[in-house]
Amino acid sequence: MSSSTEQGRDGRENADTLLEVSDLVTQFETYRGTVEALDEVSLTVGENEIVGIVGESGCGKSVTVRSILQLIREPGRIVGGEVAYHGRDLLELSDKQMRDEIRGTELAMIFQNPTNALNPAYTVGHQIAEVAREVRGVGDEEARSRAIELMDDVGIPKAEERYGDYPHEFSGGMKQRVLIAKSLACQPNLLIADEPTTALDKTTEAQLLDLVDEMREEYGLSVLIITHDLRVISRLCDRVVVMYAGQIVETGSTRDVIKNPVHPYTKGLVEAIPRLGDEQTDLESIDGTVLDLVDPNSGCRFYERCPIAQEHCRDEKPALEEKEPEQYAACFEV
Ligand SMILES: Nc1ncnc2c1ncn2[C@@H]1O[C@H](COP(=O)(O)OP(=O)(O)O)[C@@H](O)[C@H]1O
Ligand SMILES: [Mg+2]
Repeated sequence: MSSSTEQGRDGRENADTLLEVSDLVTQFETYRGTVEALDEVSLTVGENEIVGIVGESGCGKSVTVRSILQLIREPGRIVGGEVAYHGRDLLELSDKQMRDEIRGTELAMIFQNPTNALNPAYTVGHQIAEVAREVRGVGDEEARSRAIELMDDVGIPKAEERYGDYPHEFSGGMKQRVLIAKSLACQPNLLIADEPTTALDKTTEAQLLDLVDEMREEYGLSVLIITHDLRVISRLCDRVVVMYAGQIVETGSTRDVIKNPVHPYTKGLVEAIPRLGDEQTDLESIDGTVLDLVDPNSGCRFYERCPIAQEHCRDEKPALEEKEPEQYAACFEV
């Protein structure tokens, strides 16, 4: 794949690239027409790196993750692009290969709602141990002690005692810890987390983000985290990818992008941070709502809401260009 001198599409030197998504196009056929959910999305995640995708609700963050994992179902379809994991194109793999060789072994996932991801009929310890047994092929006793060790690692107090408890006996934050333990049981290289803390209170959220960071160190994980909240990005991520209406509008190191946002959409997101109350997480400083992705304009999709848009922005699509060192934005006017 890439040599040490090459650069990824988002400009990151990718000698140690684990995941490289290039020009991903995903669409849904609906009665209203074709929803163009992803328009040539490109991003990379390096070894041991934490990358965040941020954008308002409906921007295509979950569709990006589901496309990477080959979880797009009818009426959706991946129309173009490539998802290289360790240089292997995941879009070429069969469902069975994805299931057996990638999902839940190489790549682990955690989602917003931990309750749906746990089986209410089995103890949490059993559910973690089962992964160790099936994926790592260890025996019953070893699986059990591994599960307890993992529960302890992710900060579940009295892990051994709680091994036999059922999911409903855990709080939301503790359930999310159980799920992290469960995903670590398969020793993944990449953890993909879609809004993992959105349903939690702020204190629990902060603790979980710290936990993810610790797990990165301890397990040598790479992490791709999705959030609509820039504060989550600033707390956890090395690099950020800003998405708007199915397009990547800006990417760079978290520090650079938050300190000096280049794209007008990112500027709006950053300006909205101090105005966000604990409950209120809508991005109210940017006027308008996310573009309808059925029959969008062919140029920059932020056109209608953009304070500096020119006529040509509607039909001409700006490419991601390096505007500051290692900081890329897709905008003609900056
Ligand atoms: N199954 C589906 N059928 C039709 N449209 C869909 C489907 N899933 C997602 N979409 C559309 O794709 C776009 C991106 O959705 P999503 O990735 O869930 O947004 P986000 O995660 O950023 O909130 C939205 O316009 C959404 O309506
Ligand atoms: Mg989503």
